[in-house]
Amino acid sequence: MFSFLHFPNFLKPRHSLPLQGILLLEEGIKLFTPQGYSASKNPSLALISPPAENFATSFSENSDQWQPTFFTHGSFFIVTLSLPRKVSLYGTGEVRGSLLRNGKEIELWNTDNFKYQRAGGRRLYQSHPWVLGVREDGSSFGVLFDTTWKASLKTGRRNIVFKSTGGPCRVLIIDRPSPQQVLEALANLTGKIELPPKWALGFHQSRYSYYPDSHVCDIANEYRRRHLPCDAIWMDIDYMDGYRIFSFDPNGFPNPRAINDYLHEHGFHSVWMIDPGVKVDANDPIYQSGSAKKVWVTSKDGREFQGLVWPGSCSFPDFTSPEVRTWWAEHYQKFMAQGVDGVWNDMNEPAVFKTKSGTMPEDNEHRGGGSLPPGPHLMYHNVYGMLMTMASQEGIRKALPERRPFLLTRSSFLGGQRYAATWTGDNASSMKFLKMSLPMSLNLGLSGQPFSGPDLGGFLGKITPDLFGKWISMAPFFPFSRAHTDKSNPPREPWSFGPTIEQVSRTALERRYRLLPYIYTLAYYASLRGDLMMQPLFFADPYDLALRKEDRAFLLGPDLLVIPAWIKTSSWGIKRPLALPKGAWHQVHLLPKNREEDGYQADIKLRSGAILPLGAIVEHSGQNSSKLTLLINPDKEGKASGMLYEDAGDGFGYRHGEYCLTRWEASSEKGNLEVKRIVQAGAMPSSYHQIEIQWIGEKKETSC
Ligand code: NOJ
Repeated sequence: MFSFLHFPNFLKPRHSLPLQGILLLEEGIKLFTPQGYSASKNPSLALISPPAENFATSFSENSDQWQPTFFTHGSFFIVTLSLPRKVSLYGTGEVRGSLLRNGKEIELWNTDNFKYQRAGGRRLYQSHPWVLGVREDGSSFGVLFDTTWKASLKTGRRNIVFKSTGGPCRVLIIDRPSPQQVLEALANLTGKIELPPKWALGFHQSRYSYYPDSHVCDIANEYRRRHLPCDAIWMDIDYMDGYRIFSFDPNGFPNPRAINDYLHEHGFHSVWMIDPGVKVDANDPIYQSGSAKKVWVTSKDGREFQGLVWPGSCSFPDFTSPEVRTWWAEHYQKFMAQGVDGVWNDMNEPAVFKTKSGTMPEDNEHRGGGSLPPGPHLMYHNVYGMLMTMASQEGIRKALPERRPFLLTRSSFLGGQRYAATWTGDNASSMKFLKMSLPMSLNLGLSGQPFSGPDLGGFLGKITPDLFGKWISMAPFFPFSRAHTDKSNPPREPWSFGPTIEQVSRTALERRYRLLPYIYTLAYYASLRGDLMMQPLFFADPYDLALRKEDRAFLLGPDLLVIPAWIKTSSWGIKRPLALPKGAWHQVHLLPKNREEDGYQADIKLRSGAILPLGAIVEHSGQNSSKLTLLINPDKEGKASGMLYEDAGDGFGYRHGEYCLTRWEASSEKGNLEVKRIVQAGAMPSSYHQIEIQWIGEKKETSC
């Protein structure tokens, strides 16, 4: 067991570590500190405001209460926590496998994991030392192991075992009446997403790489010519000059400003990649200034560490230092001034080629600074990507102070949602990966990161038109919705597979844009309260044990149930009946029924008592329409309600009241249906002037 941490000597005794104190942070949230804990050896990067080390021990150790036990075993630090009977476990971040995390072993060591093959996929690009438990009665708890060190986590039948290479760390336990409340508390402690610009919630088209710039224009033109909705085109590494970051290839991308202008004129936004590795090149201005400022991670002997990535030999900024983060952030000034809208941070585990570990040596040195102590890579590896995104976000924010930053990252850590959205790395095109993408995004949400999605279509391997149709049918529902693929693959845009699949794609993308007012409202609540956008089915009824492991269907927000069409097809087959929440969920259509019945589109059902706001079909999020459709599914009492958030779609005016939060209420009395629009907050008038009402069930007279 635990081959990953190579527990070497089982003859070494386990030493119990007494508890130093328990701090009650608020009702139901306790922080357990073992003896020997020191913030200088275990800095907290997950928590926004980690409690000071020298807290007054609030109450004495009480052996009756449910609490973790701490041990040392050789050089390892171990925490065990006994589990209640019949508990369902979730969370543990971006991991391969099913939604239910009982009986799993996870390695916390961010890894560039092509096809999720390395270590059997037990570790991927991000680490989340976090487990969510839902008891039989629906009451829930969350356990946060507050350490960044390389670690492993095992969820057994009776207990959770956490083993760390770092010294004693603190453990935080949240206890709440429901899983939603645990996640709200987690969001308060570890942060929420920044409200994204609306375009970031549209559909994105990417590939490794569109080259040269005329290819980017061709893709944009094709989208518009074929009336396929899309909001952003992505530039992968080949736009760079010899893969030097913050540079542009003089042949392929001689005028990035012009290409961005072109995209903007056609209603697109652009996202450009920036990796952490800086080419070791005395003529490169980034390398020059980095060397002058001594920003690089060093080897144990104090020399600049260099490792191979795309550009060849690279040096790596030491993002643990606030000065280095500021240095990094400054480079975004000139870069964003080219008209760049969003940034994509990749390879930031950091990935280092031609090494056995795939990354830099564990004994490399990080200098720290501010609240962070100096420490070895073993301590900072798991947060290298997150600290990079912290610096990138700061840079983007300074460069474009009037705009909301949009940043996507591959590597991150618990709490990383504060800085960037994420995607799930180098997946494959197969059905297996398509199926796995659901629990993966769901568990990211259940670990505090609501804004995620996979490479739609799959990054690696061949794809058939039929399989692409299955993948693209999910585009309406992932919070982050982007098609991307590897360099070796032939074109993967929706029109590459013939007219049938092009039409399947159009239907899927139009569905997303119809849902955009609802999705934007979900993003608003994710940024405000930490709500999940994509939710597991058991959120609909945490008491219904049958829903606990269902991960083939899911919820989009609290009101929509999504059942992918592909789970019913013979090639994939439902082996056990689908568990669905009870109650009158009603199938709804976002487009004419015959278009949605193409064999690919997911069934979607609206919760009883919900009102779903739908927008018009547009080609991108900036194309305004004043028409709103309200789909109303009244409950048994004939009542329904729903929320709608609107603002300018970008900028920070919303922080000063320039938004409109509407509560829609519907009721049917004596055959008359009434729909009320109640402006709940915000000083901006609604942009919707034409409201179409669609009642589910009988047609009655409606007043609004
Ligand atoms: C690895 C990323 O996971 C992938 O999405 C990207 O296309 C390549 N790096 C090239 O930049």
